[in-house]
Amino acid sequence: MTSENNMDASQMYPREIECEDGTCLTIQQSYVGDVGCVVWDAALVLSKYLETKGFDRRFGELKKRRLLEIGAGTGATGLVACKFGSDVTLTDLEEFVPLMELNIKTNLSALTGTATAKILKWGEDIGEFNPLPDLVLMSDCVYYPEAVQPLVKTLCDLSKDGADILGCYEERTIGQNAEAHQLFDKLMEPHFSVEEIPREDLDPVYNSDEIHVMWYRRKDGPTQDQPS
Ligand SMILES: C[S@@+](CC[C@H](N)C(=O)[O-])C[C@H]1O[C@@H](n2cnc3c(N)ncnc32)[C@H](O)[C@@H]1O
Repeated sequence: MTSENNMDASQMYPREIECEDGTCLTIQQSYVGDVGCVVWDAALVLSKYLETKGFDRRFGELKKRRLLEIGAGTGATGLVACKFGSDVTLTDLEEFVPLMELNIKTNLSALTGTATAKILKWGEDIGEFNPLPDLVLMSDCVYYPEAVQPLVKTLCDLSKDGADILGCYEERTIGQNAEAHQLFDKLMEPHFSVEEIPREDLDPVYNSDEIHVMWYRRKDGPTQDQPS
């Protein structure tokens, strides 16, 4: 059983996310651990996009949305949505559940929707995530080729009732990023149409040439075969 109580306070340092209404979310990050222990810039850009008029225009308001974040790490992006009333499920590998739980607990008084943290390893059965979300968030999750096929399977499974997927990534030339992105685009193409959110629709401060917010919509029907 995982618990936020397992987190060592001396290893933690906060990141404040200021929302448009002046309230701040405090996201605890860890000096120790894998890449999900910190809030990545793509997560900030996506979080701040959720607060824009452009988001409202395309996706409607956040209140009462059933939202699931994959590869959530600290859970920052999902928690911003929860602050504005979405019911969110933050998911990641098992080792990140205590950090996501800690961040839910830290921000509880600011959250107006419900938030839970759960394990979701890409490619595995999503049976426990019923009813399915109507919006899936994903920030900086495409960075190693071995994970791409299971990731696309999970995105197909989660969106089989038609959920939109909002993904955000930072262009990088290091490591296997480019290869992973190429494979991701190829495997997504048969199942999703993709549209980049124009930079002028992003938050006027939290945007960058290198960070892209992408909107994926199912183009195949719910009965089509999923990649295995
Ligand atoms: C670069 S971090 C991004 C974290 C967070 N979304 C952000 O942008 O701040 C990538 C996240 O994907 C998660 N991840 C990587 N492989 C995964 C897998 N096979 N199944 C589920 N999550 C995975 C990592 O644990 C990590 O939290």
